[in-house]
Amino acid sequence: MKLLVGILFFSFFLAIPSAVARGGERGGTLSDYENDRSNVATTARILLEDEKSQNKIARARGYMTNSDLEKAVKDFGGRCSNISRIYSIGESVNGVPLWVIEISDKPGEEEGEPAFKYIGNVHGDEPVGRELLIRLANWICDNHLKDPLVRSIVENSHLHILPSINPDGFALQRRGNAKNIDLNRDFPDQFFPLNDDINTRQPETAAVMKWLGEIRFTGSATLHGGALVANYPWDGTRDGRKHYYSCPDDNTFRFLASTYSRSHHNMSLSKEFPGGITNGALWYPIYGAMQDWNYIHAGCFELTLEVSDDKWPMIDEIPTLWEYNKMSLLNLAASVLKTGVHGRIFASDSGTPLPGFITIKGINYTVTAGRAFGDYHRLLVPGDRYEVMASMSGYKSKTTTISLGEVAMTLDFILDPDTTTERYLWRTSGCNCGSSSSSGGGGKFGLEMFWTLHMEVYAVIIILLFWFLLRRRLKSNLLNDKPQAARSSLLPA
Ligand SMILES: *[C@@H]1O[C@H](CO)[C@@H](O)[C@H](O)[C@H]1NC(C)=O
Ligand SMILES: *[C@@H]1O[C@H](CO)[C@@H](O)[C@H](O)[C@H]1NC(C)=O
Ligand SMILES: *[C@@H]1O[C@H](CO)[C@@H](O)[C@H](O)[C@H]1NC(C)=O
Ligand SMILES: [Zn+2]
Repeated sequence: MKLLVGILFFSFFLAIPSAVARGGERGGTLSDYENDRSNVATTARILLEDEKSQNKIARARGYMTNSDLEKAVKDFGGRCSNISRIYSIGESVNGVPLWVIEISDKPGEEEGEPAFKYIGNVHGDEPVGRELLIRLANWICDNHLKDPLVRSIVENSHLHILPSINPDGFALQRRGNAKNIDLNRDFPDQFFPLNDDINTRQPETAAVMKWLGEIRFTGSATLHGGALVANYPWDGTRDGRKHYYSCPDDNTFRFLASTYSRSHHNMSLSKEFPGGITNGALWYPIYGAMQDWNYIHAGCFELTLEVSDDKWPMIDEIPTLWEYNKMSLLNLAASVLKTGVHGRIFASDSGTPLPGFITIKGINYTVTAGRAFGDYHRLLVPGDRYEVMASMSGYKSKTTTISLGEVAMTLDFILDPDTTTERYLWRTSGCNCGSSSSSGGGGKFGLEMFWTLHMEVYAVIIILLFWFLLRRRLKSNLLNDKPQAARSSLLPA
């Protein structure tokens, strides 16, 4: 009997490691909520690590080392120089450059086009992503003149590929970076005060955050291993518990995740995840995730892709995994071109592009247009009607209802300056710019709204005084004078 209980107990422990591994070992959840579970998981992981360490050398055989990867990136840059640029977003803890391949017909130049990024090897012991991403870059280079999908990616978007954000973890063959921090738990969190101290932020995380401040990415995905599923926000829940927790763009995210899973060899046939997709928090909640931060703080729709059940498949399986994921990787990158509503926002008076805001009625999320071109890229599920509103301070908002078909739609906005009565009054009374007062950019006077309002009150008082004085004089012969005209136009307000 004792033996039986012992066996049952032991088999419980054995069951945990596989569950944890399938989940891409997304342990390290908030201790307040998940204490018991993570203790078990930690114990389980120690057992697992022992077993793993024996295979460490064998399993990495044939995979690119960090210097192989650096060489592959640079070789690519040489071979495909007319459609690419190689740059680094920073360095890992141990000083390895975080190389990025940008692919576009005008690499490094700002254009009114959407940008997409792929990040591989977030977890050091999940190396399939970095192998796939180098193959993706090379395949694009070899096919951009023949393949229409690839050509449109090159011509109409900017694709940035960071094969390894965690080279130190890879060298150590472990999940965390050189400081053993899980980079997919190191971002500021929306629900809990985590990772807000920039002094303790890992350089890899800081580099990604800075990168997102420099480039306006529309879409993104990170590559992981240990499961086969496309995971979408939210990754965390407010109550710390495991359940479906949708973000404002739940429908769009389900669509994007399905774009990946349906283009894949067999991801959509998953028995564990219907359609091969999952809400992160439903799978199990995590906090400080990169994906949620991208969506909240960078206007970037990011997925977390688990691309193979086996974290370290034999190297000769990589070509097959590449074939399984190729169309998914291409179709997801192209989704920033092929879906949603895109366009530019202009000022009607000056004709200049406006870095305005796009919102969709019923979806509490704002997409920002670019400063240089006023271009915006709003991903949406095809085949539905949407009320699209463009706004910008100092301008009147405009709303257009669209019926979005299967392909992306172009919709430009031309916004008129906001000549509210207060501003109008102040402008006509305060400036000597003549009678044509309907045009003129907002903010010409550079006054704070607060001050502007007060100025207008003063202006009205002064005008009224003026009016009284004038009335006295008007008893004589000044009836058709200029002050009279000004007075009559000002009084109704
Ligand atoms: C890149 O160079 C190749 C040959 O050197 C040329 O055929 C191709 O048109 C170029 N592609 C672009 C996008 O300029
Ligand atoms: C997908 O195909 C691979 C290789 O044939 C197989 O090992 C895996 O179990 C399949 N997964 C699903 C969900 O069908
Ligand atoms: C919209 O989202 C913001 C956070 O981005 C939140 O503070 C606000 O309460 C939300 N508004 C509604 C109406 O849900
Ligand atoms: Zn992972």
